[in-house]
Amino acid sequence: MLKPLIYKENNLHVLDQRALPHQETWVCCNRATDVAKVIRDMVVRGAPAIGIAGAYGYVLGARAVLTGGGDVSPAGLDSVYRELAAARPTAVNLVWALDRMVARLEREAANSAEGRVAALLDEARAIDAEDLEANLRMSQAGVALISPGKSVLTHCNTGALATGGQGTALGVIRDAWAAGRIEQVFVDETRPWLQGARLTAWELQQESIPYRLICDGAAASVLATGDVGWVIVGADRVAANGDTANKIGTYSLAVLARHHGVGFMVVAPRATIDRSCPDGAAIEIEQRPAEEVRSLAGRLIAPVDAPVHNPSFDVTPAELIDVLVTEKGVLHRPDRAGVAGLFR
Ligand code: MRU
Repeated sequence: MLKPLIYKENNLHVLDQRALPHQETWVCCNRATDVAKVIRDMVVRGAPAIGIAGAYGYVLGARAVLTGGGDVSPAGLDSVYRELAAARPTAVNLVWALDRMVARLEREAANSAEGRVAALLDEARAIDAEDLEANLRMSQAGVALISPGKSVLTHCNTGALATGGQGTALGVIRDAWAAGRIEQVFVDETRPWLQGARLTAWELQQESIPYRLICDGAAASVLATGDVGWVIVGADRVAANGDTANKIGTYSLAVLARHHGVGFMVVAPRATIDRSCPDGAAIEIEQRPAEEVRSLAGRLIAPVDAPVHNPSFDVTPAELIDVLVTEKGVLHRPDRAGVAGLFR
């Protein structure tokens, strides 16, 4: 199974998603600072993958503190935590994973410093493995909702590249294809960073799953044909009331899906649910550089100084979501009570 993050011999190897699909290159990180940079620069992206990278980054930070004879404790690693947590603001999985690392360190207080670092590596590996398990469970639950005979439409990249393996929304799609429940996949190119065109198309092609790449503006006309049964997307942060932040353009798809009577499915593990966030208005939306919109594949396409608005994510109100699939269960028309129930 494709893994974008491999920790071995005290280094985190990160598959460079900026170079895909035409080049497969790996970036080697041996400091927490390197990991913060690969997250910030989108060498690795996708909410669960960012969380897993952050956890391994915390391990690297702890190793450096150990080698320098410093204090391997949450306080001693505070600057490591803060640097990693600030790398990207919207995907809550990053802070979730770092908080889990801190909690493990607190539980290991009586252990030796070496033992504490070993425990942190164990925790990062557990976060990685549990994400794959959650994805496999969500895939099963999602497939069960899909009746055969129609296509699906997806946005951004939510596959193995974005997670600890298998994927969230793309995991459902992968298994729905294997189960004979979908005809083909419409893939939004996902401007400006083109996660759909570069990454989702690549993943689908590798598994010979039939797809059609469309420009984002074609989604309405594709849904109007009646050939699409579900729009299936992932999430970067789900608020306590079910409002969901995901890649810019997701909200438009939810509006279109409701208008055309097409189901709208969000697939996200509980690690993506932020119960401390009351609703979508409280979610911080990352603003990305203007160059991403002014250029295409490194070539300027707009006036060099064109003013740009480039939010990386938007928020889909819960009332437009037909189903939220998690590893702990499926919520139809998610709301505050339903989301709380997932944690009982
Ligand atoms: O900016 P990105 O590429 O990190 O955004 C990724 C998304 O919006 C995904 O849909 C989301 O993280 C879910 S990935 C399983």
